[in-house]
Amino acid sequence: MQRIYFNEVVTRDGFQNEPAFVPTDVKVELIDALSNCGYSKIEVTSFTSAKAIPMLRDAEEVMGRIRRIPGVEYTVLVPNVRGAERALESHADEWNLVMSTSEAHNLSNLRMPREKSFSALKEVIELADGHVPINVSLSACFGCPMEGEVSQEEVLRWAERFVDLGVRGLTICDTTGMAHPSQVARMSHALRERFEQLQLTLHFHNTRGMGLANVVAAVDAGIDRFDASLGGLGGCPYAPGASGNITSEDAIHMLDVMGYDTGIDLIRLLPIARSLPDIVGHDVPGQIAKAGLITDLHPIPASVNELLKESA
Ligand code: COA
Ligand code: ZN
Repeated sequence: MQRIYFNEVVTRDGFQNEPAFVPTDVKVELIDALSNCGYSKIEVTSFTSAKAIPMLRDAEEVMGRIRRIPGVEYTVLVPNVRGAERALESHADEWNLVMSTSEAHNLSNLRMPREKSFSALKEVIELADGHVPINVSLSACFGCPMEGEVSQEEVLRWAERFVDLGVRGLTICDTTGMAHPSQVARMSHALRERFEQLQLTLHFHNTRGMGLANVVAAVDAGIDRFDASLGGLGGCPYAPGASGNITSEDAIHMLDVMGYDTGIDLIRLLPIARSLPDIVGHDVPGQIAKAGLITDLHPIPASVNELLKESA
């Protein structure tokens, strides 16, 4: 069975767009529960400025209090050198660096031109000095909500520059759900061809309902790593119109029934997904938590049983 790896991003991408602060205890309890479900990675938090992302101002405390399970990598988002120093103190297993392939989105999210971000992230990579594996998440790779089209060549050009600096992985992000399956297939083939040796992850948002179709297109093109968020929470606060990531439990359920090995125990994961509306104080987009698995059958009503007997 072909293995597909999931990185759970609910406590980072998921929570960063939520209006009401989720208490630190609740975050720690949630991550500890997710650690027992079979994820290969959990993006725990982000070492950004507390002013920019107030929800994640407790990053150190969360990293210090979670129970780490062998076999799960605990990754964190790092936007700059200050963030890297904090991540180093917290002994994160991986640093997930972020910049955008769109100039307008980079200015909006990180408050600097792309070239300046690149130099700053180069410094971060030097600080890691080969001791901490580096993943780079490139935002807006399938389109920018302000600039429109971002060409595949532009994405590959930025990817290439980071590969030259020795990164372990690249995450190609559809920050505002603009990707469609044909585009994803083209991008996935190109990535696999150029960067065969890297951990290649795709990161989709379901803003326009194309999220799971994009996962299938990527898997068909040989991609085996995805970011996803429990309940389908998520979105970048600095990208107009951004909304939820693809829903972890929906994507995992889909791949399970298609015959892929996700390594994830859905029976453990579903109750956690069902606890999310209480945690964030509102309904969440995920569907499997509401509908149940395709194997969760309903009892046949007596009247229908009668008809079944008659027609037998
Ligand atoms: N951790 C903690 N504080 C940080 C920090 C970090 N990584 N980076 C900057 N700061 C603080 C500075 O100390 C400064 O604090 P002060 O106002 O009390 O002196 C303040 O933030 C501004 O610092 P500055 O260097 O001028 O940075 P900035 O305002 O241009 O912010 C970012 C740069 C990238 C840190 C900030 O824009 C940010 O965190 N953006 C959010 C990115 C993000 O996570 N987006 C969603 C995910 S894609
Ligand atoms: Zn995202």
